[in-house]
Amino acid sequence: MTPALLPAVPPAPCRRAAAHRAVRLAAAGAGGATEMLAAARALEAAGRRVIHLEVGEPDGPTPPHVVEAGVRALRDGHTRYAPAAGIPALRAAAAAALGARGIPADPACVVVAPGARAMLFSALLAALRPGDEVLVPDPGYAAYGAVARFAGGRPVRYRLRARDGWAADPDAVAARLTPRTRVLVLNAPHNPTGVGITPEALAGLAELAERHDLLVVSDEIYARHVYDGAGAAAGAHPSIAALPGMAARTVVVDGLSKAYAMTGWRLGYGLLPPALAGPATAVLAQQATCTAAFVQHAGVAALTGPQEGVAERVAELRVRRDRFAARLDAIPGVRCAVPAGAFYVFPRVAPGAGPVSAAGDPAPALARRLLDAHGVACVPGAAFGPGGAGHLRLAYTAPVDDLDAAAAALRACVAPPGARG
Ligand SMILES: Cc1ncc(COP(=O)(O)O)c(C=O)c1O
Repeated sequence: MTPALLPAVPPAPCRRAAAHRAVRLAAAGAGGATEMLAAARALEAAGRRVIHLEVGEPDGPTPPHVVEAGVRALRDGHTRYAPAAGIPALRAAAAAALGARGIPADPACVVVAPGARAMLFSALLAALRPGDEVLVPDPGYAAYGAVARFAGGRPVRYRLRARDGWAADPDAVAARLTPRTRVLVLNAPHNPTGVGITPEALAGLAELAERHDLLVVSDEIYARHVYDGAGAAAGAHPSIAALPGMAARTVVVDGLSKAYAMTGWRLGYGLLPPALAGPATAVLAQQATCTAAFVQHAGVAALTGPQEGVAERVAELRVRRDRFAARLDAIPGVRCAVPAGAFYVFPRVAPGAGPVSAAGDPAPALARRLLDAHGVACVPGAAFGPGGAGHLRLAYTAPVDDLDAAAAALRACVAPPGARG
């Protein structure tokens, strides 16, 4: 009989591993959309049909020429490690795409990452010192605060307010500045509200960043999803990095997930000030080594190939937005603005509408009822910060029939108890 290589002692729980896990998970926070998706998937596993309005991803397929480029790259043997900062062709294509939006971009300062979220992570890890304060929008994409904490920083929320149409206000940002403030995070068009930042506000925020020597992290993943105003005419939301001098203190975070229906490919990139490009690449190299080479080749096809498909998808989303927002706004107790960008609506539900949860915010219980009773998945606004309480985020990346059914379901949920079906 072969002697056992290891003595037969029962495995003991590793206390040290548990301690590390606790620290990291506390920093990570919870993901509202991820939790709702898990609940929705559980219902589907039990045989129920679910309308998915909780996850922010286009419902259409990746364009065929992009898929083809990825497959061709696999066949051509692009199956090995790639340069940590990305293949030169993709860095050049990304720089050109940014340049077309008026952002001065040197390919040497473009870093490719497995997703915009990974880019955000690498940039903040590269930039932050322990205790640095990071100004993040509230409500806002939950990753900003979580990643800032991961990186040893301290997220400080600046409020966006429904009564101001969720517009970013330089004065509200200035009010949150302290001597420890180091980074200002902007996101336009904005998740979860869909609202952009006006050119005047961008100028005010740029002035603030210069006066207080802040690094700006500008998340522009929805830049191509603009439906109204000057941004729609230009085909993209304006970037703070295009303002004079701002590229030197701005990290532009972008990616292919939303504009090219490539959420599952995991492909993003950043344009960084020269002094940060190297450190951010080092973080990426330690975390992921590189972004998959064949995926990057597909990305080159997406950025350099025909762009009409993007415009067509945006036009289709605009039709859905108008119809869905109007139907939601017509529900008694629900107020739904028509946001100018991204692909979310963020209706307010009146206190007392639907089943009220313990904290007095009707949205979480409403979201739960929508899912359990009607098979409609969405995210309560408080998952994006306390400023989102009283709201629901619904992605209108679904066929109009499903959006109509979702609006009817919300109407049924908020109807007075006696009138509920
Ligand atoms: C504002 C914002 N930034 C970044 C991301 C992440 O994008 P990616 O899929 O490229 O990691 C998302 C995804 O929902 C988002 O809403």
